[in-house]
Amino acid sequence: MQEQNESKKRIFSGIQPSGILTLGNYIGALRSWVQLQDEAENLYCVVDLHALTVRQDPATLRRRCTDTLALLMAVGLDPQKNILFCQSHVPAHSELSWLLGCFTYIGELSRMTQFKDKAQRHADNINAGLYTYPVLMAADILLYNTDLVPVGDDQKQHLELARDIAIRFNNVYGPVFTVPDAYIPKIGARVMSITDPTRKMSKSDEEASYIAILDEPDVIRRKLRRAVTDSDGQVRYDPENKPGVSNLMSILYVLTGESFDAIESRFAGRGYGELKNEVADACVAALSPVQAEFKRIQADKAFLEGVMRSGAERASALAGRTMSKVHRKMGLAPYKL
Ligand code: TYM
Repeated sequence: MQEQNESKKRIFSGIQPSGILTLGNYIGALRSWVQLQDEAENLYCVVDLHALTVRQDPATLRRRCTDTLALLMAVGLDPQKNILFCQSHVPAHSELSWLLGCFTYIGELSRMTQFKDKAQRHADNINAGLYTYPVLMAADILLYNTDLVPVGDDQKQHLELARDIAIRFNNVYGPVFTVPDAYIPKIGARVMSITDPTRKMSKSDEEASYIAILDEPDVIRRKLRRAVTDSDGQVRYDPENKPGVSNLMSILYVLTGESFDAIESRFAGRGYGELKNEVADACVAALSPVQAEFKRIQADKAFLEGVMRSGAERASALAGRTMSKVHRKMGLAPYKL
């Protein structure tokens, strides 16, 4: 990969090393990352600093960082084509976050729905990091002159803030930052919980509500058998009135490519049980190879360390260029040895 290829778009996205990655992460984000890997210059970052906004056990966090990196490769991201790295290995993320914080209004941060949601769930630890989380995310993106940010629907508001910060900064100092666009899949941008299909699938909810990428086949089948549907008995795509069935249909559509019309006619007169079984088959077929690959990569510590080191070096080189420009434009005193 050429680091300075002007004709190719630049893509950046991040994922928290939260231990359990779900089918939501896979369908909403990771699949797009894999699909886009030949079209652009890509950076994919394990955002360990973001994870610190809730309490973490140090040894577990350390392990989860490498595990998440291994999982990125297990889903199909090639470490030659993509810069895969760990956020804390490139200190420019934190530095730019401070600088951009001076261009972000309290009112904007207070409107972030994810902050409000997390503050409710972690009422005993509503720390400043949780509040300024979107500024660090803006720094992640703007540091690399990113054109496109492939994310699930829940990150849209953060993305809009990153754009606003970039525009505000550019209005003061000239065109320093590329204003990024979100890349959100049409179907699957919000995979819903299988026990409460009015809520997003999230690993912070009860275990039965999500499919984890590393769930064993029998666990996937058991969870899906208990998926909440409705009492009308018809397999029909109607997210508003039939959120459970529509969610299962979306998962099937994304994993097999079968259209909603085709699914509807194939399941006419058949029960939800059969639909659930087919969704389970599709999940097992998609996830089993990822699981096998994950185990193989996870065991190769030297390889993982190498990917992490080279990712950090390549990302740091790109970040360094942006930071020198930002320093100069903002009037920070030049540093010469
Ligand atoms: P995180 O770690 O919560 O999720 C990683 C990606 O998975 C998507 N996602 C979903 N998509 C569809 N349905 C779901 N149920 C679902 N759950 C999660 C998320 O939208 C996300 O794309 N703040 C980010 C990480 C981040 C980042 C960034 C992203 C930090 N800096 C810069 C992009 C650019 C987060 O917590 O994602």
